[in-house]
Order: sequence, then C-alpha cells, then structure tokens
Amino acid sequence: MGKIILLGHQKGGVGKSNTAVNLAVAIAKEQFKGETDRILLIDADPQATLYRWSQRRDENNEVNSFPCIRLDGNITAQVKREAEKYDYVIIDAAGRDSREMRSAMLACNIMLMPTKASRADLELLEHMAETVETARDYNSNLNVSVFINMAPTNSQAEKLIAKKLLAEFPEFKLMNTVISERKAHRDSFSEAVGVHEWKDNKAKAEVSCLLKEMCDELI
Ligand SMILES: Nc1ncnc2c1ncn2[C@@H]1O[C@H](COP(=O)(O)OP(=O)(O)OP(=O)(O)O)[C@@H](O)[C@H]1O
Ligand SMILES: [Mg+2]
Repeated sequence: MGKIILLGHQKGGVGKSNTAVNLAVAIAKEQFKGETDRILLIDADPQATLYRWSQRRDENNEVNSFPCIRLDGNITAQVKREAEKYDYVIIDAAGRDSREMRSAMLACNIMLMPTKASRADLELLEHMAETVETARDYNSNLNVSVFINMAPTNSQAEKLIAKKLLAEFPEFKLMNTVISERKAHRDSFSEAVGVHEWKDNKAKAEVSCLLKEMCDELI
C-alpha cells in the first residue's frame, strides 16, 4: 500500500498545488532516479491547477510525465484503491472546505498544510482544527503537519510567531522546514517542472528538507 499525501487547507493561495508538484518531482528525483510512474497525482480541485500543470508537462519531452487523474465528490474509496498501485499518491485539494478535502482526509496518511506565517493566516487554522478532529473520528492515525510557506528570506521572526501561535493547536504538528518565497517556485511551475529540475539550489534544498521531514513522519 502506497503512502497517501494530501495537500489541504481551507485557505486559498497558500501553496498547496505548488507543494504537490515540488514534492512529486523531489520524490521522483531522490527516490526513483527520475522515474515518475510510481507516483500518482490526484487533482481534487475543480480549478484543476495540478492537472493542467501535468498536461503541460506531458508536452515537454525533456522531463518524465506523471500519471495524473481528476476526482470529485467522495474520493475516500478511490484514493485507497489507487494507493494499492503506486508508492505515493499525492492529492491536491481546493482552497476551501470541500467534500473532496474532507473525504481525502479519511484516506490519507499525512495531510500537509502550507500556511503563510502572518497572524491573520495562522488564526485561520482554528477552522481547520475542528475539521481535523472530525476526520480523526474515522481516521485516528491522521497526521496533520503544518509548514510555513512563502517566508521572507531575510527574517526568522515569522517562524517564532508561528511556533507560538501553533502551540495553541495540539491538533497540528509544526514542521521545522520553512519554504521561502522564491521566484524559482513561480518560474519552474510555469515551465511545468519542479524546483528539483530548476536552477535555484536554495529552493531545491528547502524542498528536500520538506520531503525528508515528511518521510520521517510517515515511518
Ligand atoms: N514558496 C513560494 N515562493 C514563491 N511563490 C510561491 C511559493 N509557493 C507558492 N507560490 C505562488 O503562490 C501562488 C499560490 O500558490 P498555489 O497555487 O500553489 O496555492 P494553492 O494553495 O494551491 O491555491 P488554491 O487554494 O487557489 O488552489 C502561485 O502563484 C504560486 O506560484
Ligand atoms: Mg491549488
């Protein structure tokens, strides 16, 4: 049975789709010598950001394509079925409370929640805490790990604020990895590649850290 990773948050624009593609590429590069066929991408967002990234990638002969499907509605059973065929299943959900996000929470091993580190963003986690508690009634092992995304490269202050605020939420684990705001993320995404296939080693190192920390959580 493969590992099921959900990128989820009720807030839009926090970097769920961006993280989904970067983790997929990082796993392919670091664990499967660049082979992509052991990793399934599931786009569970009607916006289809992930699916369109994957379609653009199919047209690029210099990189391997990822298997990618779109699902909607209650996706719990199908996600579990897909996980029997792959080593990793990465699900990208919409940036709102959706049936897809909630049903994916019942199937996944880990939910990664990117967040910006401002107080206004962190306060929104309260809504998610309730959703997570409900999901744990059905998926008691659900690991929910929050990480700071789009952090300014010149300041550590945000992480300290986040640590303090997140201490109020025992439902979540705050990951050590911080992903900085870097142009490489936007540029690589628009070329339908990941930062592991781009030319910014700092961006790549941060995604490697995120992957390692996630894999440690999955053991
Ligand atoms: N670390 C980063 N550095 C720079 N830009 C980033 C980073 N992470 C995400 N972005 C950019 O921020 C925007 C939002 O990211 P993304 O689409 O991944 O968010 P999302 O949570 O999937 O949004 P939605 O809720 O609409 O699905 C995109 O333009 C993306 O390129
Ligand atoms: Mg998205």
